[in-house]
Amino acid sequence: MHIAKLPRFLLAQLPTPLEKLPRLSQGLGGPELLIKRDDQTGLALGGNKARKLEFLVGDALAKGCDTLVTAGAAQSNHCRQTAAAAAKAGLKCELILNGKKPALPEGNLLLDELLGATQHWIERPQRAAKLQELPEQLRAQGRKPYVIGVGGSNGVGATGYVVAMIELMDQLRTSGQHVDHVLFGTSSGGTQAGIELGARITGFTGKIHGLSIDKDDEEAEDYELEVADIANDCAAYIGAEVRLSRSDISVVRGYMGQGYAVVGDLEREAIRLMARCEGIVLDPVYAGRAFGALVDLIRKRRFRREETVLFWHTGGAPALFAYARELLQR
Ligand SMILES: Cc1ncc(COP(=O)(O)O)c(C=O)c1O
Repeated sequence: MHIAKLPRFLLAQLPTPLEKLPRLSQGLGGPELLIKRDDQTGLALGGNKARKLEFLVGDALAKGCDTLVTAGAAQSNHCRQTAAAAAKAGLKCELILNGKKPALPEGNLLLDELLGATQHWIERPQRAAKLQELPEQLRAQGRKPYVIGVGGSNGVGATGYVVAMIELMDQLRTSGQHVDHVLFGTSSGGTQAGIELGARITGFTGKIHGLSIDKDDEEAEDYELEVADIANDCAAYIGAEVRLSRSDISVVRGYMGQGYAVVGDLEREAIRLMARCEGIVLDPVYAGRAFGALVDLIRKRRFRREETVLFWHTGGAPALFAYARELLQR
């Protein structure tokens, strides 16, 4: 393995804290709960993308690129952190965003503006074409674009989460703690691919559960394969011998509610519970949904009382400020 030799541009505050959630564990009647605070990665209000972007931006700089191009939803955390990474690295940033530009930017979108990213608004079906066209136009102007796919989920980006798993294993070793289950929100798959590959490389013995945020059953059928493919691209990139197959990847489904980014009772309760028991803020789209699912699984006794479950907080809190109406609804 040659991670240390790969191009990397430092962006994140690492290691992120590993904390106990004693009041929540007690309130829910066990298991013991831990939280890995990737909401504290520090890049423009934190989140999981800072880890992926260290390797993506490193690669972009090594290739002599001058512009990061990526795409996402209007409240994309990935776009917000890409805009911040570009600013820190002295690169330009072009964002392809779904929908119509709102009159007043809120949440992540406000940060995209402040961070100086250029925005291109398109309808979602035009996204793939725009991701082809825009880099061509930039090249014709003499620019050198580096295209980052949605969520930064490829072998290069997932390297950030192999490193994260190595970091977690160090923290567990130092603190003498043992983890039986790890759970987090999964969407474009890079976070899960890196965690699964990192787990295999480090010999982590607990179970890993990606909580599907945005795929219904039909779409989700190939998702395990997609995650395994990203993990294998990553293994090739970092020079690891291991390879994963779809059966190595565990995805929990059934918590989609009314759909992607639609806040329901599950998210509302989970966000209040975490905030009021532990003073930690979750986001409405990813960590709120994933933690809501974890609470439901605990109530259904899917974990034994004496087990330890780690919730990996992947960030996203800036989106809260675009969801006030939905979050205050009862
Ligand atoms: C806050 C947050 N958590 C989790 C995820 C899911 O990570 P991945 O896309 O790597 O599956 C995202 C992705 O957009 C995110 O923004």
